[in-house]
Amino acid sequence: MVHSKTFLLVGLWLASLPVQAQHGLEELPEELAASYESLAAEVREDDEALARVIEAGRERAIFCNTCHGPDGSAERANYPSLAAQNPVYLLDQIEQFADGSREKLVMNVLAETFSVEEKVTLALYYSHMTLESTDFDEELAARGAQVYQVRCAQCHGAGGLGEAGYARIAGQQPAYVAEVLREYRSGDSPRRLSVMYGIASGLSESDMEAVAHYAASLQRQ
Ligand code: HEC
Ligand code: HEC
Repeated sequence: MVHSKTFLLVGLWLASLPVQAQHGLEELPEELAASYESLAAEVREDDEALARVIEAGRERAIFCNTCHGPDGSAERANYPSLAAQNPVYLLDQIEQFADGSREKLVMNVLAETFSVEEKVTLALYYSHMTLESTDFDEELAARGAQVYQVRCAQCHGAGGLGEAGYARIAGQQPAYVAEVLREYRSGDSPRRLSVMYGIASGLSESDMEAVAHYAASLQRQ
């Protein structure tokens, strides 16, 4: 059991961060947000429209899948899975690559070439794919549970599913999660101005490793 005082202290500390925490739909360029909202509404109501979007996304993603894995379940440890990720988070990250606020050469080059329609199609396609299970270490995962519930659940959700602009980290590969945390903690992340800098700087190396395995263990499909 985690002591309630710990919750209180961590809560106060989080509240004191210069949070520009969530990158929601309202932060996206208007045209992109509007286009996403209208297609998302259409596929929610119409299975045929959903099937068309998935088909178009799958075609567009053939090249992406060489790094992000078949239908977005990454097979190589240092690449993020995109399957089952929150579509607004995906759009936000694609925008960050396109405007250079997140740096990774191949992604910056790619994101600049996407049309609004392609961005929306890719985000909806990946968000509808099933994430394949990834390997994790049971012992490390058990150690990471408490760190996660105290320090991460507030934004990424108790089950790691995130929401809107917050990343889903349930089922993400542990090596990728640990690498991202190390990058944030180093202060030299390819992602600028993220609330994650403050979070990661409070974690020890062994906390990062443990919480990464716990996040992977949260997979439920
Ligand atoms: C040559 C390998 C490669 C290819 C091809 C590639 N990506 Fe990536 N992508 C990466 C890497 C590496 C990262 C993680 C970057 C980092 O650590 O900051 C990434 C990150 C992302 C992210 C952010 C994921 C997250 O969880 O934050 C999205 C979204 C994404 N890629 C979409 C795409 C799409 C869509 C395509 C195809 C049009 C694509 N990628 C093709 C290597 C690739
Ligand atoms: C105050 C809210 C908040 C808390 C608490 C938080 N995060 Fe985050 N996290 C975010 C946001 C926002 C992003 C997207 C970051 C960006 O765009 O740079 C993110 C991104 C991430 C990513 C990158 C996901 C990807 O697919 O690339 C990982 C991994 C992550 N967080 C893990 C954690 C872990 C582990 C903890 C707890 C130790 C944690 N976060 C606590 C808000 C939070």
